[in-house]
Amino acid sequence: MNTADEQKRASARKALEYVEDGMVVGVGTGSTVKHFIDGLAAMRDRIEGAVSSSEQSTTLLKAHGIRVFDLNAVGPLPLYVDGADECDPHQRLIKGGGGALTREKIIAEASERFVCIIDRAKEVELLGRFPLPVEVIPMARSLVGRKIVALGGQPVWREGVTTDNGNWILDVHNLRIVDPLGLERELNQIPGVVANGLFARRAADVVISAGEVRKQR
Ligand code: 5RP
Repeated sequence: MNTADEQKRASARKALEYVEDGMVVGVGTGSTVKHFIDGLAAMRDRIEGAVSSSEQSTTLLKAHGIRVFDLNAVGPLPLYVDGADECDPHQRLIKGGGGALTREKIIAEASERFVCIIDRAKEVELLGRFPLPVEVIPMARSLVGRKIVALGGQPVWREGVTTDNGNWILDVHNLRIVDPLGLERELNQIPGVVANGLFARRAADVVISAGEVRKQR
């Protein structure tokens, strides 16, 4: 298999096998998920609808005639399908390259099974080469930045980007994340942090890389 995009498409196609009739499907954000949404469109009459993690995905879903529900209206979900920026051998992830990390984390938490779809370049031994996105309340940007520097990271403001929740993103460089769970917790404790892109506490249940099911738990 050749390009990253072909690998993403193959993973998205494989993830469709986890979709069952009558489901409300949790849908992530990004270019891999776009392939998944395209595939979901072909089976839209078999599913109840979707819960979306971003305005971007909502627009795509609606354009395909897929009903989009508010998470509060449907409760726990059987399935969440989303991409990632990095995935380690324990299925822990860095997410948020597309800026949708907070809603993605909420839907992942609300879902029974999280199927993560990636291309091979996303597989890493140690998380942290990809800058870790942290969503912050705007007034806390520099406070959170200073706290992150004290933790050894180098925060860079994703200037000009406002999240769907009206917040800002810091991309944290130079982190060697040996304890993803500990760092996820520590970052969450900084006042002004809304969410961070480490998915360690709620890791993926299934990882599909380049169309192959890599891990299953
Ligand atoms: C968006 C995300 C995406 O899943 C992540 O950035 C991967 O994107 P892509 O599928 O375009 O490579 O976390 O917030």
